[in-house]
Amino acid sequence: MGGDVKDLGLAPKGKARIEWAAQWMPVLKLIRKRFISERPLEGVKVSACLHVTTETANLAITLRDGGADVVVCASNPLSTQDDVAASLIKDFNIPVFAIKGEDKDTYYSHIVAALDHQPQITMDDGADLVTMVLTKRQELIPGIIGGTEETTTGVIRLRSMAKEGVLKFPMVAVNDADTKHLFDNRYGTGQSTIDGILRSTNLLIAGSRIVVCGYGWCGRGVAMRARGLGAEVIVTEVNPTRGLEALMDGYRVMPMSEAAKIGDVFITVSGNKSVLGGEHFEVMKDGAIVCNSGHFNVEIDIPALEKMAHSKRRVREFVDEYTLRGGRKIYLLGEGRLINLAAAEGHPAAVMDMSFANQALSAEYLAKNAKNLEPNVFSVPEEIDRDVARLKLEAMGVAIDKLSREQEEYLASWSEGT
Ligand SMILES: NC(=O)c1ccc[n+]([C@@H]2O[C@H](COP(=O)([O-])OP(=O)(O)OC[C@H]3O[C@@H](n4cnc5c(N)ncnc54)[C@H](O)[C@@H]3O)[C@@H](O)[C@H]2O)c1
Repeated sequence: MGGDVKDLGLAPKGKARIEWAAQWMPVLKLIRKRFISERPLEGVKVSACLHVTTETANLAITLRDGGADVVVCASNPLSTQDDVAASLIKDFNIPVFAIKGEDKDTYYSHIVAALDHQPQITMDDGADLVTMVLTKRQELIPGIIGGTEETTTGVIRLRSMAKEGVLKFPMVAVNDADTKHLFDNRYGTGQSTIDGILRSTNLLIAGSRIVVCGYGWCGRGVAMRARGLGAEVIVTEVNPTRGLEALMDGYRVMPMSEAAKIGDVFITVSGNKSVLGGEHFEVMKDGAIVCNSGHFNVEIDIPALEKMAHSKRRVREFVDEYTLRGGRKIYLLGEGRLINLAAAEGHPAAVMDMSFANQALSAEYLAKNAKNLEPNVFSVPEEIDRDVARLKLEAMGVAIDKLSREQEEYLASWSEGT
């Protein structure tokens, strides 16, 4: 069994945790049950470049049980759970190429290894796999029927590939399903980002001033949870509608140049680069903490921080102390990588249940329909999105009302109401 992981001896711990996550993933469990009997992915080669977590393990197992020949590699050098990676190989015969803390070269060599599998379906979280196919492994293009993308940043990259005409196969934007971003990005990132900050710092959130940079789906969740723990939350934005929404949601809104002077903790979730830069570090309070939960480690301008600092030391796991000229200290968490995955365990399984149900069903959709799709970015079909919500509600034991015939007719008619 191929793969490259830290230590296969960690497998028993990983297996127990994969099973623990499975019990919070009832929708994926139902899909797996159907996949076992229907085998909709029989013989389909899938390369999945995802955060190697307990939830991803359950997705990989579901795909395998649907007949797919799956390999997994990391979508971030710091998000791999080494015990899970070991267990996938040892207990589930799924090759994994991922080691927590791997350097850049190893990270990319693992993506290459996943592509050597010659996938027919790609699964990405950030579009690194597809980017590598389109730039360096073009010989694989004819064999690929399509792919899926998990996150906002990946979808943005794919849309720009489609616009420039470089995308060569259809991609399903799983992130854009309502049952993905409304829940995963908001409640998943919201809770787990705070979890990552707490695990790395043991900070008291109550009474601290937390600056959330970007009020998108993730930012809304982070702001909401920080406020719930008693923080005074400040939001920075570039989009006037989102800024207004944050204001009316009850947060202070101001430019980063102002927020930088007063914040205690800064959390970037903008999907953009250098939202925290040298001019901000210049005015931050002594002891300010900066971290990121956006996809790439470019939201905080770490090279600028490195340049401004005259010394740096690791004071706790995932906490680097930068001492600037004059003695002021700034703390960077998780090397500027997604803090919820670097220092905590990523999103809770119950929310990944919906994201990965969309992934599994989108893979099935591609296996059946990709030949009719042109090279472009597609939404998850609405029936799949609705079905995932319905199944999740059912699994949670919650019923909702149904439209009566009369109501259906009323909503469908333009002449009613007059
Ligand atoms: N940590 C995780 O597990 C996780 C999970 C899901 C998504 N993500 C990533 O988080 C990032 C945000 O995702 P999202 O779904 O919230 O995206 P989004 O597009 O809904 O929101 C991003 C927001 O940031 C704002 N923004 C852009 N540049 C800014 C700047 N310079 N200053 C302030 N605000 C700025 C935008 O106007 C937008 O409102 C993406 O990179 C995404 O891939 C991370």
